[in-house]
Amino acid sequence: MSDIEQVPPGVDASVPSPARMYDYFLGGTENFEVDRLAAEKVRESVPEAEDAAWANRGFLQRAVSWLAGKGVRQFIDIGAGLPSRNNTHDAAQAVAPDARVLYIDNDPIVRVHAEKLLAGSSGTAFITGDFRDPDGILGHPETLATIDFDEPVALLLVALTHFVADDDDPWGLIRRYMDRLVPDSYLALSAATHDRHTERSVQGIKEVYSRSSAGVHTRTRAEIERYFDGLEIVPPYDGAPATLAYAGEWAADDVDAADSDGSRWSYCAVARKTQ
Ligand SMILES: C[S@@+](CC[C@H](N)C(=O)[O-])C[C@H]1O[C@@H](n2cnc3c(N)ncnc32)[C@H](O)[C@@H]1O
Repeated sequence: MSDIEQVPPGVDASVPSPARMYDYFLGGTENFEVDRLAAEKVRESVPEAEDAAWANRGFLQRAVSWLAGKGVRQFIDIGAGLPSRNNTHDAAQAVAPDARVLYIDNDPIVRVHAEKLLAGSSGTAFITGDFRDPDGILGHPETLATIDFDEPVALLLVALTHFVADDDDPWGLIRRYMDRLVPDSYLALSAATHDRHTERSVQGIKEVYSRSSAGVHTRTRAEIERYFDGLEIVPPYDGAPATLAYAGEWAADDVDAADSDGSRWSYCAVARKTQ
């Protein structure tokens, strides 16, 4: 998808979209000229942008496999983005073929993509929805048809919350979702940080995204840690620290090799609701 003539109904190809820019960084084709130009502008400030996207993607896949291995059979993936390969249902169903995944995104391009990608797959559903509207998402008929709220659920907020402003209170929103889930449910989250990055590169990214359909709000480790308040952060393997990790490091086979510049753009963790 690269010509303006091929723009699907409801999709605005005149403004860069974070979902399409991410797709571009991951080598996908669901993006337009305006997205590629914006992504290349990001790369001018952050040469390791592509590595950052892949490191984040790796966290998502490892976290979902880990959760399925712990017996979780239901996933709510908000800000799904739906790149072409190795999505949440692929990772979950590779471990547990009966796993169900509800994908949600607020970008119309993701719906178009989901209709193609998920056609014929079992145990998946997609709704267009906004993370900032928990009642709309949790009460949506498709949600209620897909998710059994009497059983544990993994809420996936992967590379999403940095598109949510402080004024929208992402911390309070997460609590509202987690309050709806039974004990032994999980939160898996990654989020962009400006810790240990230069002012120049952080401002460079913010400037590009301020001209996209969603501004970016990088945060400190302490601010990202607060997303997990009231939950128990779990170690990815015995002996690993139960704290935030950089995206590439979480459950990595080779932690030293995974500790790349791109990986250090995101903190992540998986946490369990204990009560
Ligand atoms: C960087 S992509 C992450 C995709 C996937 N979660 C991953 O980590 O591989 C961020 C996605 O969040 C979506 N998004 C941004 N703000 C959102 C909101 N308020 N509600 C729902 N989705 C949102 C974007 O459209 C985009 O698809």
